[in-house]
Amino acid sequence: MTDFRRFDLKTYDDLRGDLDALNLELPISENLDVLAEKVNVGGHVLPNRFVIQPMEGVDGNPVTGAPTELTDRRYRRFAEGGSGLIWAEAVSVVPDGCSNAKQMRITEENLDSYKKLVDDTKTAARNAFGHELRFVVQLTHSGRFSRPGGVVKPLKVQHNPFLDEKLGMTDIEPVSDDYLDHLQDDFVKAAQLAARAGFDGVDMKAVHGYLIAELLGAHTREGKYGGSYENRTRFLRETAQRMMDELPESTFVTSRTTVLEPCPYPYGWGVLPEIGKNWEVDLTEPKRLMKECFEMGMPMFNVSVGFPRFQPYMNRPHDNSLVGEGNPPEYPLVGVARFQQTVRDMQKSLPECPVPTAGLAWLRHLLPQVAAGLIEEGWCSLIGMGRGAFAYPDLVRDILEKGVMAPEKCCTTCSMCTQIMKDGVGCGGCVIRDKEIYGPELKKGRLAAKEKGLA
Ligand SMILES: Cc1cc2nc3c(=O)[nH]c(=O)nc-3n(C[C@H](O)[C@H](O)[C@H](O)COP(=O)(O)O)c2cc1C
Ligand code: SF4
Repeated sequence: MTDFRRFDLKTYDDLRGDLDALNLELPISENLDVLAEKVNVGGHVLPNRFVIQPMEGVDGNPVTGAPTELTDRRYRRFAEGGSGLIWAEAVSVVPDGCSNAKQMRITEENLDSYKKLVDDTKTAARNAFGHELRFVVQLTHSGRFSRPGGVVKPLKVQHNPFLDEKLGMTDIEPVSDDYLDHLQDDFVKAAQLAARAGFDGVDMKAVHGYLIAELLGAHTREGKYGGSYENRTRFLRETAQRMMDELPESTFVTSRTTVLEPCPYPYGWGVLPEIGKNWEVDLTEPKRLMKECFEMGMPMFNVSVGFPRFQPYMNRPHDNSLVGEGNPPEYPLVGVARFQQTVRDMQKSLPECPVPTAGLAWLRHLLPQVAAGLIEEGWCSLIGMGRGAFAYPDLVRDILEKGVMAPEKCCTTCSMCTQIMKDGVGCGGCVIRDKEIYGPELKKGRLAAKEKGLA
């Protein structure tokens, strides 16, 4: 019953039937009013319970790192769709931390283009909804997945036999403490630029195996950034504190953190600290980190689950995998429930800290009542939309105004937006629902992959 099969649910009764048959817990409620509630995030009032989660569009200017017309279009469409909070995608703080040639990068020289992006996006929300949208930017260093200018130049923070071999990184030495000390300065500088651009919040990206996420599980690293819990979380906590000291009070600091980086101990994060175990979940440290961040003054904590490169079924439950990868190992509804239950465990451990969820796109038109159930039962405070918003940018409007989503506009979890990112040539968006623009972008990347013998 938990074996892989594709989405074939038509009604909420079908969904309840599968949940019962699989003995899975996922709350469902018809009271959609809770989705229109305002949420207070450190004095910033969000106009409703929806957040667009970060979705890299791979459409920055490859020379300057500035957003382009396509970037502007993506965010304008999200804003016009009605979400109260947009969490902008990963923006690199240094050139060598970019994950591809077109990842955005914020600098003194391109600051005006970010001011324009913020201004255009907020104006679009005001014009369409009359509400004040909040805009957070995700600051990142890609670590093991760094490809500045499209050239593979990975950096790692510890030797990890589970990743080093798969990623061809056995001969690379971990970055020094000195490198990380300077990187703290780069994060703080980028945060200052983001505040000047008009973003309401700054996120230190600690998810999905990228550099700060890897540090959280750096049990075998020596020196001040590895080993003990205090050392492994030092980079995030110290840098966040510096940002809070140096940013204007109106800009909040937050983090999107993977609560489960599933490498076996002593390499993972959020895994049982016992040698020999594969990766049993243990949220003791992620909960502690969230509490400490909240007490430091970070007013919300965004949570993701898993390592998309190696466990995509956990991070973004889907029907179709990337080219060359087999079917997911489980029925995607199992992944949806796992994601939501993990977020629930985090949220319930600190109810006063707003925690957004994600990983709901696979539910398609059955999302609204699940979203309402999650809020009603206190499993999360905000409903995050990733692929769903790429495919159907005005889904929030439809849910809030009509109480339903149109099945023909929903994301089909085909993975082609991720394929574009992986191929690293085209610009990212929804190939199915926005195909005039993104169909050709997918083709460019597939063609380039074929030429390299990778397709
Ligand atoms: C094409 C693509 C790009 C993404 N880019 C980012 C990113 O820049 N930062 C991030 O934290 N997560 C990123 N994610 C993960 C999403 O934010 C989200 O957590 C994931 O897609 C699961 O949620 P969903 O079911 O709503 O899509 C990306 C996912 C996809 C498919
Ligand atoms: S390309 Fe579109 S339909 Fe396919 S997974 Fe991405 S958002 Fe969903």
